[in-house]
Amino acid sequence: MITVALSKGRLFKDFIKFLEARELTDYAQALKEEGRYLFRNVGNVKFIFAKGTDVPTYVEQGIADLGIVGLDIITENRFNVLNVSQLPFGKCRLAIAGPDQQSEKDIRVVATSFTNISQQYFNQQRQDVRLIHLNGSVELAPILGLADAIVDIVQTGSTLKENNLREYHTIMTVQARLIANKQAFYLKETDLYQFMEEIGVV
Ligand code: PRP
Repeated sequence: MITVALSKGRLFKDFIKFLEARELTDYAQALKEEGRYLFRNVGNVKFIFAKGTDVPTYVEQGIADLGIVGLDIITENRFNVLNVSQLPFGKCRLAIAGPDQQSEKDIRVVATSFTNISQQYFNQQRQDVRLIHLNGSVELAPILGLADAIVDIVQTGSTLKENNLREYHTIMTVQARLIANKQAFYLKETDLYQFMEEIGVV
């Protein structure tokens, strides 16, 4: 039995589409029935459903053997996991955005869930910016006057558009990654490779 930690949210839906495209209907069907379940067993695989930012923790601690997580999350915080491969879904970007009429160089206060990536970016730009950490709905911050701008995930761009915000600059492109627990990767090599071959990542 192997355990795979999945991020709830948009990556989860993308993973189901990816499984369907590969005609892995047993996995896709079981994941579609996720509901309020915390985990699901399908054959030799136990899927656990976690918040995206917690997926690398479950993998690092050996609770999960594999994890599917956005590159944004494993770049923001360092985890002692194996970064196995890029996956062909979950494509989006981490961008700076703010009110239309404002220029990027006038930004002084930025709200974000990605304070480490943002700090590194503004340091590289030699731009003196104060960061405010928020856990979600970051678009509220410039609208309510908490910050001048945000650094946040943009996928379709519709959240920005609906809130009259404009993307100034892409900081990094993001895609799903397959990560593995370092010990499990060797101890459960056969089972893990079987799953990875099945989903077409090796
Ligand atoms: C993410 C991100 C944006 C939105 C962007 O939020 O934080 O709010 O998606 O997507 P779009 O460009 O397709 O509109 P998510 O729904 O993951 O929740 P969050 O606000 O709690 O981060």
